Amino acid sequence: MAADVRSANVLILAPVGRDAEACAKLVEQAGLASRVCVDVSDLITELDLDADLALIAEEALYRKALDPLEAWVIAQPPWSDLPFVVLTNHNASMRFTRFRRDLVRKLRNVSFLERPMQAISLQAAVLTAERGRSRQYQARAYLEVQRNAAAELERLVARRTASLEEANNRLRTESEQRERAQTALMQAQKIETMGQLVGGVAHDFNNLLMAVIGNLDLLAKRIGDDPRKARLLEGALEGARRGATLTQRLLAFVRRQELQARPTDVVALIEDMRGLISRSVGPLIEVNVIASRATPAVNIDPNQLEMAVLNLAVNARDAMPAGGALTIALDHQLVAAGGDLALAPGAYVRLSVQDNGEGMDSATLARAVEPFFSTKGTGRGTGLGLSMVHGLANQSGGAFRLESRLDLGTKAELWLPVADRAVDTIAQLHIPHTLTSSATILLVDDDALIAASTAALLEDLGHRVVEAHSGKEALAILEEGLNPDLVVTDYAMPGMTGLDLALTLRVRDPELPILLATGYADLHGESPIELPRLAKPYTQEQLSLEIARLLPDRATRALGAAFRPGLRT
Ligand SMILES: Nc1ncnc2c1ncn2[C@@H]1O[C@H](COP(=O)(O)OP(=O)(O)OP(=O)(O)O)[C@@H](O)[C@H]1O
Ligand SMILES: [Mg+2]
Repeated sequence: MAADVRSANVLILAPVGRDAEACAKLVEQAGLASRVCVDVSDLITELDLDADLALIAEEALYRKALDPLEAWVIAQPPWSDLPFVVLTNHNASMRFTRFRRDLVRKLRNVSFLERPMQAISLQAAVLTAERGRSRQYQARAYLEVQRNAAAELERLVARRTASLEEANNRLRTESEQRERAQTALMQAQKIETMGQLVGGVAHDFNNLLMAVIGNLDLLAKRIGDDPRKARLLEGALEGARRGATLTQRLLAFVRRQELQARPTDVVALIEDMRGLISRSVGPLIEVNVIASRATPAVNIDPNQLEMAVLNLAVNARDAMPAGGALTIALDHQLVAAGGDLALAPGAYVRLSVQDNGEGMDSATLARAVEPFFSTKGTGRGTGLGLSMVHGLANQSGGAFRLESRLDLGTKAELWLPVADRAVDTIAQLHIPHTLTSSATILLVDDDALIAASTAALLEDLGHRVVEAHSGKEALAILEEGLNPDLVVTDYAMPGMTGLDLALTLRVRDPELPILLATGYADLHGESPIELPRLAKPYTQEQLSLEIARLLPDRATRALGAAFRPGLRT
């Protein structure tokens, strides 16, 4: 037999006589390595280390405890079925026959070789068993490759699943964001539509109040000292004033009010309001103000802001009938692009008004800002408080946010843009309220009722009034030679607006003072010329004040020189 070197390892267990030695020699001659074991437990130890087959003389196993060997056989991995070559004796008794059958069952891959045997028989049997074992190793390698491939596949699938899941999560987040944005947009559109509707009504109503207040103002001067009449008149005036406040709130909501925005120290404003707020919310509610003195000034109409804070405080009071805490906080915030408040990037002051009252459920919260939405019952709430606050914030270049949890409380936040200049410290110039002499005023208003009532107010102040009911008519009157000291014009007029008229007049005479009366004009940032404005509805006193501002030197001018026929130059 050729002695080609094989790495195969043959374990030999043949403890009687010189069998082991002889077997080892033959195995080596067949080109295989061998190791001789002394007993069954030694064999099992060697099997655990490394073995390709076992060559065993049957007497080494006869009447021995074979359970551990059987256990080893059972515990082999699926690819392994170690070959056993068992050398038998010539004994064919029943006992031996049973013993050998038992061996087949326990060792599984068994071949018997009867002694005495020729060397070639043993070598052939060992080599055949070794070849069988090689096939098992091939199967193991194949299985290994398959297992690796399966593991790789599993890894790939896991990676793919993870990236799919990530994409899915991203999609879900995006679609949630889109849904939120859509809801916000729908809400904004709804409020915008309502705003247009409400704005139109408020504008007309405001004009009517203008006439009511104007005429009542004049009537007040003519009723003499009768206290009963005075009371009745005061009642009527009070009602009209309340109506005016209402239309102001409506116009604020639709962002069409005249805002007198200026750099405002909000901390000082809130401090000044503290007493008023405490009185408004009552003794059961503790009012806290948290603000840093370093809070910058914001650009806002301070009167409107006071109104907004008061509205929020009153809402908080209504939500805490049994008392609670109201916290007004101010802080400085920087907003980056793309935030959820849709604010332009920049610096803002956040004014928050928080209560620990009954809060709102999500349905109420969703509608709270809508004009006329109120849960306070007929006659108790107009449902315009939050609309006004919302409108003010938007019109001031800021935002309004409302958060609320049922039974936990509500937080209202006003985000207001930081002013680009400091608060004006120059004291307001004292302006005389009344004029000592009369002026000629060209009054332009398309609404005859208002024109008449304003004319009456002006005449009552001692002025001479020429009325026109459109821009065109006003121009025609000027063409005819009227040389007024002042033009008072309504803004919203069909055909030619008050602003159009003012622009034309400026070209004719840059010096001619023009007063724009408006309850409607959303002229912020779009007006090509700066015009003094008077918000409707105005009282006679406000009218007189504006005229005094525009005609400060009227007191020295002669009366009666106003109407000069002929063309102006
Ligand atoms: N702080 C708050 N806590 C609980 N609910 C509130 C709060 N603020 C507002 N709401 C709810 O939002 C609704 C609308 O508020 P809004 O201020 O616009 O109107 P109103 O308070 O009902 O009426 P008005 O302001 O004219 O008195 C309220 O009726 C109330 O249901
Ligand atoms: Mg309210």
